[in-house]
Amino acid sequence: MPTLEFKGKQHIYAHHLTVPYRPLEIDATKSYTYIIPPPLEPNEDSSCNPTNTDDNLIIHGDNLHALKALLPRYANRIKCIYIDPPYNTGNENWVYNDNVNSPLMQQWFTENTPVDNEDLERHDKWLCMMWPRLHLLKELLADDGVIFVSIDDNEQHHLRMMMDEILGKENFLADIIWQHRYGRSNNAKLFSNQREHVIAYRKSDAVSHIRVKRDEKLNETYSNPDDDPRGSWVSSSYVNPATKEKRPNLVYAVINPHTRESINHPTHAWKYSRSTYENHVKDDRLWWGIDGNLRYPRLKNFLSESEEKGIVPIDLMLADVAGTTDEGTKQLQVVLQSTALEFNNPKPTRLIANLIGIAEGASGKNDFIVLDSFAGSGTTAHAVLDLNKEDGGNRKFILIECEDYADTITAV
Ligand SMILES: C[S@@+](CC[C@H](N)C(=O)[O-])C[C@H]1O[C@@H](n2cnc3c(N)ncnc32)[C@H](O)[C@@H]1O
Repeated sequence: MPTLEFKGKQHIYAHHLTVPYRPLEIDATKSYTYIIPPPLEPNEDSSCNPTNTDDNLIIHGDNLHALKALLPRYANRIKCIYIDPPYNTGNENWVYNDNVNSPLMQQWFTENTPVDNEDLERHDKWLCMMWPRLHLLKELLADDGVIFVSIDDNEQHHLRMMMDEILGKENFLADIIWQHRYGRSNNAKLFSNQREHVIAYRKSDAVSHIRVKRDEKLNETYSNPDDDPRGSWVSSSYVNPATKEKRPNLVYAVINPHTRESINHPTHAWKYSRSTYENHVKDDRLWWGIDGNLRYPRLKNFLSESEEKGIVPIDLMLADVAGTTDEGTKQLQVVLQSTALEFNNPKPTRLIANLIGIAEGASGKNDFIVLDSFAGSGTTAHAVLDLNKEDGGNRKFILIECEDYADTITAV
């Protein structure tokens, strides 16, 4: 398998293993609920018990250390991880400051300068920053968990290759395209960008089937013209796209119950076997039109059954469904009660809620912890609380933010 080479890779390759465990320190004055420490798990090391609360957590600090501190309690337990790391656009002011024991990286560490467009090693630094963090996130992810990473075209191609290497190519789920704005920016010299990526991987093939809740809009196409007691339905064609020659086992005569006529399709097979057709007749699932005058039958698909099954997610999230960056900004202005934000480009809660919905559809659970180790303004927590309010769920969140605004923006 092709792998991605970058400066520093050999030095950070196993860095996640050497990062020391440091216990989390609880600041009771900032805790909404202060809970007596839960008993340790049988093989949990008391010297690095990370937390004395099982409630929502906001951790102020570098996520490399925070993720390591979470491992003893949360390894293999997180079903949904969402991260939104710096995109490495060259003007975000992020600094590479992992104290890795190698001359090259010690130089990066002591430089302590923002990674900007002039920095010829900016992609190497970004990859060195992400590598150990993705390893730790993988350890935290449950076997039936899903990790989502927001990114744009600056690093999307590198990120995919790195995630293939760390999480396994076979665990790639989707490169979800999110339409993050409606309009076009005429300040752009070449192309105006309307979409970002959310790269999704599973931890293992314990995730083998994903269904999400149906969008209310899809239900509008259902109706009940024959007052079927089973409720609204839509019909689908009974005619197979394959010809009779190709599918001779699906060729037989069907009876129109209104005219008692025996009907054969002239060229094509039916979609279902004769025995399934007989069951459809018994179950009154064939639709011949309101007066029985359709040429061929159609199959009734009931809304109640579709709701139970859910729908497969798609890899395109349009702004109408997932919101835009502008929507995220407006939401944050409301939360902070200010229009002069010191935080740029927060994600809209609808985007995160949709991603959490996919993780729920993958694991079949909706009472899990959502981890966001690049928390920013705390959109992930906002989405979790909204979803709980909506459906009475018991989801929790763990957020990590290194900047001082962890208290003033993330936690608010
Ligand atoms: C792109 S923003 C996330 C925005 C967030 N999704 C939102 O909707 O507000 C990235 C955040 O990660 C934080 N960050 C960057 N490096 C970090 C690190 N090593 N540890 C913890 N947080 C980090 C930054 O301070 C910034 O707030």
